[in-house]
Amino acid sequence: MRHPLVAGNWKMHGDRESVAGLIAGLLEIGCEAEVAVFPPYVYIPLVAASIGNSDVDFGISIGAQNVSEYDSGAYTGEVSCQMLRDFGCQYTIVGHSERRSIYGETNEQVAHKFAAVQSVGITPILCVGETLEQRDQGKTLVVVAAQIEAVIERVGLDEVCEAVIAYEPVWAIGTGKTASADQAQAVHLAIRQQLGELGEKTRILYGGSVKAANAAELFMQPDIDGALVGGASLDANEFSKICKLA
Ligand code: 13P
Repeated sequence: MRHPLVAGNWKMHGDRESVAGLIAGLLEIGCEAEVAVFPPYVYIPLVAASIGNSDVDFGISIGAQNVSEYDSGAYTGEVSCQMLRDFGCQYTIVGHSERRSIYGETNEQVAHKFAAVQSVGITPILCVGETLEQRDQGKTLVVVAAQIEAVIERVGLDEVCEAVIAYEPVWAIGTGKTASADQAQAVHLAIRQQLGELGEKTRILYGGSVKAANAAELFMQPDIDGALVGGASLDANEFSKICKLA
C-alpha cells in the first residue's frame, strides 16, 4: 500500500564530474521503489536536466537537503521553497540531525521550514532521531515524539501524515553502526502509533549507515518503508543495490 522510497542524501560531496557519473549510474537503476536524490543546491539544475532528458521509466525525484523558512527577502546565503519548486524539486529534507546539531536548528524552526515547504506543494522529509546519550537514558521515544509533535502543533496532523518521516538515530549516521532491524522497527511503530489512523499511509524511512548488506533486513520490517541513505548513495552501484531491495 505504501510505495517504498529510497532517498540519497549526497550531503556536501561531489563535483561536476562525479555528479555526472552518479547520474549516469542512477538512470540505469530501474526498480520498483521510488528513487529520490538530494544533491547540493548548485547541482540540482544539472541533475534535473539530466533526468528530464532521459527516458527512464521508473520514478526518480529530486529534492534539496535544506531550505529557508522564509519566502523571500534579505536572507543572505539562503534558498527559498519557491526557488526549489522553480527547479523541479519534489521533496525537501527538513530537520536533518546535522542541521540540528551543527547549525542549531530547533524543533520550532524545523516546524516553520516544514510549513513553508508544504505551502508551495513540495513534500517535506522530516528527519527525527535521538543521540546516543538520549538512547542510553531510555529517552528515544520521548525525543522522537517531541520532534514530531512540534511539527503537528504548527501544521496539524493531516499535513504531517501527507509528508515523509525519516527516523535517523544520530549515533548511526556516518558511523557504520546501524540500528538493528528490531530497534528501528520499534521506533517506526511508535511513530506510526503517534500519527494514528492517518499515519497508515505515511512513509517512514530509516536512515543511518544503510548499505546493500543491511538494507534487506531493514526493509522486511512492517513499518520501514524505505531508506534515507547518506554515504552509500554516493556510489551508484551500491545505491542501485539498495533501491532494488526496497
Ligand atoms: P549515512 O548513510 O552516511 O550514515 O548517512 C545517513 C544520513 O544522514 C542520511 O540523511
